[in-house]
Amino acid sequence: MTNDLGQQPDFLIRDIPIFGRSILAPMDGVSDLPFRSLARRLGSAASYTEFINAIDIINGHPDLARRLQYAEFERPIVFQIFDDDPQRIVEAAQMLLPYQPDIIDVNLGCSAKCVTNRGAGAALMREPAKIGAIFRALTSALPVPVTGKIRLGWDETSLNYLEVAKIIQDNGGSLVAVHGRTRVQGYTGNARWEPIAEIKNALQIPVIANGDITTVGEMTHVLQSTGCDAVMIGRAALENPWIFSGLERSQIPPAVVQQTLMEHYEAMLAYYGPERGNVLYRKYAKRLLQPLNPERDEILELLTATTPQTFQQLLDQFFRRIQAEPILH
Ligand SMILES: Cc1cc2nc3c(=O)[nH]c(=O)nc-3n(C[C@H](O)[C@H](O)[C@H](O)COP(=O)(O)O)c2cc1C
Repeated sequence: MTNDLGQQPDFLIRDIPIFGRSILAPMDGVSDLPFRSLARRLGSAASYTEFINAIDIINGHPDLARRLQYAEFERPIVFQIFDDDPQRIVEAAQMLLPYQPDIIDVNLGCSAKCVTNRGAGAALMREPAKIGAIFRALTSALPVPVTGKIRLGWDETSLNYLEVAKIIQDNGGSLVAVHGRTRVQGYTGNARWEPIAEIKNALQIPVIANGDITTVGEMTHVLQSTGCDAVMIGRAALENPWIFSGLERSQIPPAVVQQTLMEHYEAMLAYYGPERGNVLYRKYAKRLLQPLNPERDEILELLTATTPQTFQQLLDQFFRRIQAEPILH
């Protein structure tokens, strides 16, 4: 089982070979087809979609087709679903099979109130028996591997990550990805990697560590200290998508940043149409340009450019200025 380069996989998700140990995290409003493609080309070892509401799948939400679109080279492609009802989640997952996902992932970690208030996402961490029922039902109904993405628990008084991870494994789950925070923490404080090491020690299926990994150095440290099979990188990939190539952001020359930015921008315009693509691109441009310390006015102008032509002109202007500046040693 080798890839085009004759390499052995780093690990398997059931029978699916994974080449590489860093993966772009699923992020609603971020990990769409253009950004996943960029990350995957730079070395992300698999592609997780933004989460998909099982109810939207069953009702045929207008945005569904877009969320399910992927490129063949992204494989293995993981469709991530959220819901709290075992039967509905199975029905929804079965409806996704014609789109040929390699893996179905269940979201057990989303902290957003609109998700947890209905008992889905991280709220499921409070109902381990239901998690068992969901994984039992999904793994017996689907031909593809089923995986779960969890947090450490609901709050500090209910750190049940080991129990939940074992339930996922015991009910046929093929991988657990862990964001090292509780639901109540949201995104505050620091992600804890020691509990993730505990999970890795306790399970036979692969485990992915996630939370606050921002540099290649941290990535290596987390892989070594937890023994996990891979790491998952979310927010930091916006500033440094080259992290998936094992490169720190400081190693990337401005000309490469410019070229990557333009390619991603053009992919966004093609995917969403010029008007929507231009607006949706702003969040990516802001984070990618941040390390180049743009002037306040420069970034403001760029992020309010209403046409692709103006955006491109301003961007050229910005990079000409950056590249004309003397390098200070
Ligand atoms: C904007 C945003 C959207 C997210 N959407 C999802 C999602 O759809 N599914 C999911 O499992 N996690 C989602 N997450 C959580 C991330 O996958 C990840 O667990 C979290 O950001 C911690 O990793 P990081 O510190 O590397 O960003 C989202 C996070 C952010 C910031």
